[in-house]
Amino acid sequence: MKKKLLSVVLAVAMVATLLTGCGAKKEAAAGAAGGDLADKKVGVCIYQFSDNFMTLFRGELENYLISLGFSKENITIADGANDQATQSGQIDNFIAEGVDVLIINPVNSSSAETITDKVIGANIPLVYINREPDAAEEKRWEDNGWNVTYVGCDARQSGTMQGEMIVDLGLEKVDLNGDGKVQYIMVEGDPENVDAQYRTEFSVKALTDAGFEVECLVDQVGNWQQAEAQQIVANALGQYGNDIEVVFCNNDSMALGALQAIEAAGRTVGKDIYLTGVDALSEALENVIAGKMTGTVFNDHFSQSHSAADAAVRFIKGESNEYYIGCDYVKVTTENAQEVLDSVK
Ligand code: BGC
Repeated sequence: MKKKLLSVVLAVAMVATLLTGCGAKKEAAAGAAGGDLADKKVGVCIYQFSDNFMTLFRGELENYLISLGFSKENITIADGANDQATQSGQIDNFIAEGVDVLIINPVNSSSAETITDKVIGANIPLVYINREPDAAEEKRWEDNGWNVTYVGCDARQSGTMQGEMIVDLGLEKVDLNGDGKVQYIMVEGDPENVDAQYRTEFSVKALTDAGFEVECLVDQVGNWQQAEAQQIVANALGQYGNDIEVVFCNNDSMALGALQAIEAAGRTVGKDIYLTGVDALSEALENVIAGKMTGTVFNDHFSQSHSAADAAVRFIKGESNEYYIGCDYVKVTTENAQEVLDSVK
Protein backbone atom coordinates (compact mmCIF):
# COMPACT_ATOMS: atom_id res chain seq x y z
CA MET A 1 0.00 0.00 0.00
CA LYS A 2 2.72 2.38 1.12
CA LYS A 3 4.81 1.34 -1.85
CA LYS A 4 1.91 1.98 -4.17
CA LEU A 5 1.37 5.42 -2.66
CA LEU A 6 5.05 6.20 -3.02
CA SER A 7 5.03 5.19 -6.65
CA VAL A 8 1.92 7.28 -7.24
CA VAL A 9 3.63 10.22 -5.52
CA LEU A 10 6.75 9.64 -7.62
CA ALA A 11 4.73 9.33 -10.79
CA VAL A 12 2.90 12.57 -10.02
CA ALA A 13 6.21 14.24 -9.22
CA MET A 14 7.69 12.98 -12.50
CA VAL A 15 4.76 14.19 -14.51
CA ALA A 16 4.98 17.50 -12.68
CA THR A 17 8.70 17.76 -13.49
CA LEU A 18 8.05 16.85 -17.08
CA LEU A 19 5.28 19.38 -17.24
CA THR A 20 7.46 22.08 -15.73
CA GLY A 21 10.20 21.09 -18.11
CA CYS A 22 7.82 21.26 -21.03
CA GLY A 23 6.34 24.45 -19.68
CA ALA A 24 9.77 26.05 -19.43
CA LYS A 25 10.63 24.95 -22.92
CA LYS A 26 7.32 26.18 -24.23
CA GLU A 27 7.88 29.53 -22.57
CA ALA A 28 11.35 29.83 -24.08
CA ALA A 29 9.92 28.86 -27.44
CA ALA A 30 7.14 31.42 -27.05
CA GLY A 31 9.73 34.07 -26.14
CA ALA A 32 11.83 33.15 -29.13
CA ALA A 33 8.73 33.28 -31.29
CA GLY A 34 7.89 36.74 -30.01
CA GLY A 35 5.56 35.85 -27.14
CA ASP A 36 7.02 37.21 -23.98
CA LEU A 37 9.25 40.27 -24.10
CA ALA A 38 8.68 41.25 -20.48
CA ASP A 39 11.82 39.51 -19.25
CA LYS A 40 14.05 40.60 -22.11
CA LYS A 41 16.68 43.20 -21.31
CA VAL A 42 17.36 46.13 -23.59
CA GLY A 43 20.43 48.33 -23.25
CA VAL A 44 20.20 51.74 -24.91
CA CYS A 45 23.17 54.09 -25.32
CA ILE A 46 22.44 57.72 -26.20
CA TYR A 47 25.37 59.92 -27.21
CA GLN A 48 24.21 62.79 -25.00
CA PHE A 49 21.03 63.24 -22.96
CA SER A 50 21.10 67.03 -23.24
CA ASP A 51 20.58 66.85 -27.04
CA ASN A 52 17.02 68.09 -27.69
CA PHE A 53 16.31 65.80 -30.61
CA MET A 54 17.74 62.71 -28.91
CA THR A 55 15.59 63.52 -25.87
CA LEU A 56 12.46 63.22 -28.01
CA PHE A 57 13.88 60.09 -29.61
CA ARG A 58 14.72 58.26 -26.39
CA GLY A 59 11.40 59.16 -24.73
CA GLU A 60 9.49 57.74 -27.67
CA LEU A 61 11.79 54.70 -27.86
CA GLU A 62 11.16 53.81 -24.23
CA ASN A 63 7.39 54.30 -24.50
CA TYR A 64 7.21 52.22 -27.64
CA LEU A 65 9.35 49.40 -26.20
CA ILE A 66 6.98 49.28 -23.23
CA SER A 67 3.97 49.21 -25.54
CA LEU A 68 5.52 46.18 -27.28
CA GLY A 69 5.65 44.29 -23.97
CA PHE A 70 9.10 45.07 -22.52
CA SER A 71 9.00 46.01 -18.86
CA LYS A 72 10.28 49.43 -17.86
CA GLU A 73 12.81 48.02 -15.36
CA ASN A 74 14.39 45.93 -18.12
CA ILE A 75 15.07 48.95 -20.31
CA THR A 76 18.23 50.79 -19.29
CA ILE A 77 19.14 54.01 -21.08
CA ALA A 78 22.66 55.34 -20.58
CA ASP A 79 23.91 58.91 -21.16
CA GLY A 80 27.20 58.88 -23.04
CA ALA A 81 27.72 62.53 -22.04
CA ASN A 82 29.24 63.14 -25.49
CA ASP A 83 32.31 61.13 -24.50
CA GLN A 84 33.17 57.94 -26.38
CA ALA A 85 35.21 56.49 -23.49
CA THR A 86 32.22 56.90 -21.15
CA GLN A 87 29.92 55.27 -23.67
CA SER A 88 32.33 52.38 -24.30
CA GLY A 89 32.35 51.69 -20.54
CA GLN A 90 28.54 51.64 -20.59
CA ILE A 91 28.57 49.16 -23.46
CA ASP A 92 30.99 46.93 -21.48
CA ASN A 93 28.59 47.05 -18.53
CA PHE A 94 25.61 46.12 -20.69
CA ILE A 95 27.58 43.18 -22.11
CA ALA A 96 28.58 42.02 -18.61
CA GLU A 97 24.96 42.28 -17.54
CA GLY A 98 23.93 40.06 -20.45
CA VAL A 99 21.35 42.27 -22.17
CA ASP A 100 19.36 40.62 -24.97
CA VAL A 101 19.85 43.46 -27.43
CA LEU A 102 21.71 46.77 -27.63
CA ILE A 103 20.46 49.97 -29.29
CA ILE A 104 23.34 52.38 -29.76
CA ASN A 105 23.53 56.03 -30.77
CA PRO A 106 27.32 56.28 -30.94
CA VAL A 107 29.19 59.31 -29.67
CA ASN A 108 31.63 58.90 -32.56
CA SER A 109 30.40 57.06 -35.64
CA SER A 110 34.05 56.25 -36.33
CA SER A 111 34.08 54.04 -33.22
CA ALA A 112 31.43 51.78 -34.74
CA GLU A 113 33.91 49.12 -35.82
CA THR A 114 35.24 48.66 -32.28
CA ILE A 115 31.73 48.73 -30.84
CA THR A 116 30.42 46.18 -33.33
CA ASP A 117 33.32 43.79 -32.69
CA LYS A 118 32.77 43.97 -28.97
CA VAL A 119 28.99 43.52 -29.07
CA ILE A 120 28.92 40.84 -31.76
CA GLY A 121 31.81 39.09 -29.98
CA ALA A 122 29.48 38.83 -26.98
CA ASN A 123 26.76 37.43 -29.25
CA ILE A 124 24.38 40.33 -28.65
CA PRO A 125 22.40 41.77 -31.57
CA LEU A 126 22.96 45.45 -32.26
CA VAL A 127 20.80 48.26 -33.63
CA TYR A 128 22.59 51.52 -34.40
CA ILE A 129 20.48 54.67 -34.44
CA ASN A 130 20.80 58.30 -35.60
CA ARG A 131 24.57 58.40 -36.28
CA GLU A 132 25.32 56.27 -39.25
CA PRO A 133 28.52 54.22 -39.36
CA ASP A 134 30.37 54.43 -42.67
CA ALA A 135 29.72 52.22 -45.70
CA ALA A 136 32.74 49.97 -45.07
CA GLU A 137 31.47 49.20 -41.57
CA GLU A 138 27.95 48.42 -42.84
CA LYS A 139 29.44 46.15 -45.47
CA ARG A 140 31.22 44.16 -42.76
CA TRP A 141 27.84 43.35 -41.12
CA GLU A 142 26.50 42.11 -44.40
CA ASP A 143 29.63 40.17 -45.40
CA ASN A 144 29.68 38.41 -42.04
CA GLY A 145 25.91 37.99 -41.78
CA TRP A 146 25.97 39.69 -38.38
CA ASN A 147 22.87 40.71 -36.45
CA VAL A 148 23.59 44.41 -36.83
CA THR A 149 21.53 47.12 -38.49
CA TYR A 150 21.29 50.90 -38.76
CA VAL A 151 18.04 52.84 -38.46
CA GLY A 152 17.95 56.43 -39.64
CA CYS A 153 16.98 58.91 -42.32
CA ASP A 154 19.02 59.99 -45.31
CA ALA A 155 20.34 63.40 -44.34
CA ARG A 156 20.80 64.37 -47.98
CA GLN A 157 17.02 64.59 -48.19
CA SER A 158 16.79 66.99 -45.23
CA GLY A 159 19.53 69.22 -46.64
CA THR A 160 17.82 69.30 -50.02
CA MET A 161 14.51 70.26 -48.39
CA GLN A 162 16.17 73.12 -46.51
CA GLY A 163 17.55 74.43 -49.76
CA GLU A 164 14.28 73.96 -51.62
CA MET A 165 12.34 76.12 -49.21
CA ILE A 166 14.71 78.97 -50.02
CA VAL A 167 14.51 78.26 -53.76
CA ASP A 168 10.70 78.24 -53.54
CA LEU A 169 10.75 81.81 -52.27
CA GLY A 170 12.32 82.90 -55.56
CA LEU A 171 15.67 84.64 -56.15
CA GLU A 172 14.11 88.06 -56.22
CA LYS A 173 12.84 87.74 -52.69
CA VAL A 174 15.93 86.05 -51.25
CA ASP A 175 18.52 88.25 -52.97
CA LEU A 176 17.90 91.13 -50.61
CA ASN A 177 20.94 93.17 -51.65
CA GLY A 178 20.16 92.65 -55.31
CA ASP A 179 23.64 91.49 -56.35
CA GLY A 180 22.31 88.40 -58.14
CA LYS A 181 23.78 86.04 -55.53
CA VAL A 182 22.52 84.43 -52.35
CA GLN A 183 24.84 85.24 -49.46
CA TYR A 184 24.46 82.70 -46.70
CA ILE A 185 25.97 81.46 -43.50
CA MET A 186 26.09 77.80 -42.48
CA VAL A 187 25.98 76.58 -38.88
CA GLU A 188 27.07 72.96 -38.76
CA GLY A 189 26.42 70.20 -36.25
CA ASP A 190 29.17 67.83 -35.18
CA PRO A 191 31.43 67.61 -38.26
CA GLU A 192 32.10 63.90 -37.69
CA ASN A 193 28.38 63.22 -38.12
CA VAL A 194 27.15 62.42 -41.60
CA ASP A 195 23.90 64.29 -40.89
CA ALA A 196 25.90 67.49 -40.51
CA GLN A 197 28.02 66.82 -43.58
CA TYR A 198 25.10 66.02 -45.86
CA ARG A 199 22.83 68.81 -44.65
CA THR A 200 25.63 71.31 -45.20
CA GLU A 201 26.34 70.05 -48.69
CA PHE A 202 22.82 69.39 -49.95
CA SER A 203 21.11 72.53 -48.68
CA VAL A 204 23.47 74.61 -50.81
CA LYS A 205 23.34 72.12 -53.68
CA ALA A 206 19.56 72.63 -53.92
CA LEU A 207 20.22 76.32 -54.52
CA THR A 208 22.90 75.80 -57.16
CA ASP A 209 20.84 73.04 -58.82
CA ALA A 210 18.06 75.59 -59.19
CA GLY A 211 20.52 77.95 -60.89
CA PHE A 212 21.08 80.29 -57.92
CA GLU A 213 24.53 81.74 -57.52
CA VAL A 214 25.68 81.42 -53.94
CA GLU A 215 28.31 82.94 -51.71
CA CYS A 216 29.25 81.44 -48.37
CA LEU A 217 30.15 84.15 -45.87
CA VAL A 218 30.64 82.00 -42.77
CA ASP A 219 30.65 78.23 -42.22
CA GLN A 220 31.19 77.20 -38.61
CA VAL A 221 30.60 74.29 -36.28
CA GLY A 222 27.94 74.81 -33.61
CA ASN A 223 27.94 71.18 -32.42
CA TRP A 224 24.13 70.95 -32.60
CA GLN A 225 23.97 73.40 -29.65
CA GLN A 226 21.75 76.46 -29.34
CA ALA A 227 24.23 78.59 -27.37
CA GLU A 228 27.12 77.92 -29.75
CA ALA A 229 24.96 78.78 -32.75
CA GLN A 230 23.75 81.99 -31.15
CA GLN A 231 27.36 83.10 -30.72
CA ILE A 232 28.35 82.14 -34.27
CA VAL A 233 25.40 83.96 -35.83
CA ALA A 234 25.83 87.02 -33.59
CA ASN A 235 29.46 87.29 -34.69
CA ALA A 236 28.57 86.74 -38.34
CA LEU A 237 25.87 89.40 -38.22
CA GLY A 238 28.32 91.74 -36.53
CA GLN A 239 30.84 91.17 -39.30
CA TYR A 240 28.65 90.96 -42.41
CA GLY A 241 25.46 92.74 -41.31
CA ASN A 242 22.87 93.14 -44.05
CA ASP A 243 24.88 91.08 -46.53
CA ILE A 244 23.65 87.93 -44.85
CA GLU A 245 20.49 86.80 -46.61
CA VAL A 246 20.11 83.20 -45.51
CA VAL A 247 21.07 81.33 -42.33
CA PHE A 248 21.20 77.55 -42.71
CA CYS A 249 21.40 75.59 -39.46
CA ASN A 250 21.94 71.82 -39.48
CA ASN A 251 19.31 71.45 -36.74
CA ASP A 252 16.56 73.35 -34.93
CA SER A 253 18.39 73.77 -31.63
CA MET A 254 20.96 75.81 -33.50
CA ALA A 255 18.24 77.61 -35.50
CA LEU A 256 16.71 78.71 -32.19
CA GLY A 257 20.09 80.13 -31.19
CA ALA A 258 20.40 81.78 -34.60
CA LEU A 259 16.97 83.35 -34.17
CA GLN A 260 17.99 84.87 -30.83
CA ALA A 261 21.02 86.44 -32.52
CA ILE A 262 18.94 87.63 -35.49
CA GLU A 263 16.38 89.30 -33.25
CA ALA A 264 19.08 90.82 -31.05
CA ALA A 265 20.60 92.36 -34.20
CA GLY A 266 17.22 93.92 -35.03
CA ARG A 267 16.68 91.76 -38.12
CA THR A 268 13.36 90.17 -39.06
CA VAL A 269 13.02 86.70 -40.55
CA GLY A 270 10.88 86.68 -43.69
CA LYS A 271 11.55 90.37 -44.23
CA ASP A 272 15.29 90.98 -44.29
CA ILE A 273 16.75 87.51 -43.63
CA TYR A 274 15.74 83.84 -44.00
CA LEU A 275 16.36 81.01 -41.54
CA THR A 276 15.97 77.24 -41.77
CA GLY A 277 16.60 74.30 -39.43
CA VAL A 278 15.95 70.57 -39.20
CA ASP A 279 14.08 68.38 -36.66
CA ALA A 280 10.70 70.10 -36.19
CA LEU A 281 11.14 70.69 -32.46
CA SER A 282 7.88 72.14 -31.09
CA GLU A 283 9.49 75.51 -30.42
CA ALA A 284 10.78 75.67 -33.98
CA LEU A 285 7.36 74.74 -35.35
CA GLU A 286 5.81 77.53 -33.32
CA ASN A 287 8.37 79.91 -34.80
CA VAL A 288 7.55 78.75 -38.32
CA ILE A 289 3.85 79.33 -37.62
CA ALA A 290 4.66 82.80 -36.26
CA GLY A 291 6.83 83.55 -39.31
CA LYS A 292 10.02 83.75 -37.24
CA MET A 293 11.63 80.85 -39.09
CA THR A 294 11.34 80.26 -42.82
CA GLY A 295 10.98 76.54 -42.31
CA THR A 296 12.28 73.34 -40.81
CA VAL A 297 12.32 69.65 -41.73
CA PHE A 298 10.55 67.02 -39.67
CA ASN A 299 13.10 64.45 -38.49
CA ASP A 300 10.64 61.69 -37.67
CA HIS A 301 11.67 60.43 -34.24
CA PHE A 302 8.48 58.38 -34.02
CA SER A 303 9.21 56.36 -37.11
CA GLN A 304 12.92 56.02 -36.30
CA SER A 305 12.45 54.90 -32.69
CA HIS A 306 9.66 52.49 -33.64
CA SER A 307 11.72 50.98 -36.46
CA ALA A 308 14.68 50.59 -34.09
CA ALA A 309 12.54 48.84 -31.48
CA ASP A 310 10.88 46.62 -34.11
CA ALA A 311 14.32 45.64 -35.44
CA ALA A 312 15.47 44.83 -31.89
CA VAL A 313 12.43 42.60 -31.41
CA ARG A 314 13.10 40.79 -34.67
CA PHE A 315 16.67 40.09 -33.54
CA ILE A 316 15.42 38.83 -30.16
CA LYS A 317 13.01 36.52 -31.97
CA GLY A 318 15.89 35.10 -33.97
CA GLU A 319 14.82 36.84 -37.17
CA SER A 320 17.04 38.97 -39.37
CA ASN A 321 16.86 42.61 -40.42
CA GLU A 322 17.92 44.61 -43.42
CA TYR A 323 21.31 46.24 -42.78
CA TYR A 324 19.85 49.71 -43.38
CA ILE A 325 16.36 50.74 -42.31
CA GLY A 326 15.43 54.17 -43.62
CA CYS A 327 12.75 56.76 -43.07
CA ASP A 328 11.59 59.92 -44.82
CA TYR A 329 11.95 63.52 -43.78
CA VAL A 330 9.07 65.98 -44.24
CA LYS A 331 9.52 69.55 -45.41
CA VAL A 332 7.82 72.02 -43.04
CA THR A 333 6.86 75.57 -43.96
CA THR A 334 4.05 77.87 -42.83
CA GLU A 335 1.71 75.79 -44.95
CA ASN A 336 1.92 72.60 -42.88
CA ALA A 337 3.68 73.63 -39.64
CA GLN A 338 0.46 73.63 -37.60
CA GLU A 339 -0.46 70.20 -38.88
CA VAL A 340 2.99 68.84 -38.00
CA LEU A 341 2.86 70.49 -34.59
CA ASP A 342 -0.51 68.84 -33.89
CA SER A 343 0.89 65.48 -34.90
CA VAL A 344 4.01 65.65 -32.74
CA LYS A 345 2.28 66.91 -29.58
C1 BGC B 1 19.46 65.82 -35.36
C2 BGC B 1 20.17 66.74 -34.41
C3 BGC B 1 20.86 65.94 -33.35
C4 BGC B 1 21.74 64.88 -33.95
C5 BGC B 1 22.36 64.00 -32.91
C6 BGC B 1 20.43 64.80 -35.89
O1 BGC B 1 19.76 63.93 -36.75
O2 BGC B 1 18.92 66.55 -36.42
O3 BGC B 1 19.28 67.63 -33.81
O4 BGC B 1 21.62 66.82 -32.54
O5 BGC B 1 20.99 64.10 -34.83
O6 BGC B 1 23.20 63.06 -33.49
